[in-house]
Order: sequence, then structure tokens, then C-alpha cells
Amino acid sequence: MFEIKIKNAGSKKELYGQINNCLRALIKDDPDWLAGISNASALLNLTLPDINWVGFYLWKGNELVLGPFQGKPACIRISLGKGVCGTAAGQRKIQIVEDVDKFPGHIACDSASRSEIVIPVIKNERLIGVLDIDSPVTARFDEQDAEGLSEFVDILNTYLEWPDTFV
Ligand code: SME
Repeated sequence: MFEIKIKNAGSKKELYGQINNCLRALIKDDPDWLAGISNASALLNLTLPDINWVGFYLWKGNELVLGPFQGKPACIRISLGKGVCGTAAGQRKIQIVEDVDKFPGHIACDSASRSEIVIPVIKNERLIGVLDIDSPVTARFDEQDAEGLSEFVDILNTYLEWPDTFV
């Protein structure tokens, strides 16, 4: 078992610095992608305040399919361009949604969710999937989260070996 030790962080930047160091320690010695993103979702669930769902959707065939996560059971398939996840995957761009009720087509998996951030996972131009995080607090996520989580996803891309396809 790994012990996750996060000291009281004075800022988001410092918190993500600590989280990202923990992630490196967790995955650097083993490239197994499923084990890696399972531990990655557990790490974020333990360390990010004010979140109610965190996990991955993986690009399978022509849609996003639910992968490892922490939180309530969630919808299984999301088409490209649909919801916040499908929009992030389609545009290949981070989505920060301050109020999910104001996002047209938002897919509600947990009625407690008020705001959301989705980071596309892209390696060598290939869409791998997305990292999705929900919060019960409105406007929970900002550019600092986007920056810290982009580095988080970069670390996954550096150390994990993605399969040719997620079938
Ligand atoms: N809200 C997401 C769906 C996934 S859940 O939040 C876990 C969306 O609109 O794509």
C-alpha cells in the first residue's frame, strides 16, 4: 500500500505540486495503464477538496466509455460532442464549467454535481480519453486547476503505456 502524504498546502499551485509528485511516485515504476489510472483516480479523490466524482472516460471505437473512477456509478457511454466530456474530447480542449445547469447538454450523472472540469488526454495527437472531475460547489475549478491537472495528465502520458485500442 502507498501512503499518500499531502501537507497543508497554502495554494492550489502548491497542492498540485504535491499531488503530481505523489502521482510520479505511484506510477513511475510500472507502465500498466489500467493500474495507473485506477491509482490516479484514487489519488485525486483523496487529495482534492470539494469534489464528488473523479475518473476517466476512454476513447473506444467512436465514443467515450467509462473507465476507472471514484464516486457514484456513472453513465457508461458518451458520444463525441455530447456533454462536457464529449465536448472536451471533440474540441481537444479543457472545459471548465462553473455551473453545470448553464452548460447546454450537460449529462447529469450525480445530481449533487454543480461544477465540472474535463481535461482531454492526448498522446502524440491521438485521443486517449478524458479526465473528468465534478464538484458539489459552484465554480470550484479555475485556470490553476486546469494547469495542475494538465501536468497530472502529462505525467500519465509520460509513464503509462496506452494500448493500441481500448476494446
Ligand atoms: N457530466 C459529464 C458526464 C459524466 S459525469 O459527470 C461522471 C458530461 O456532461 O459529460
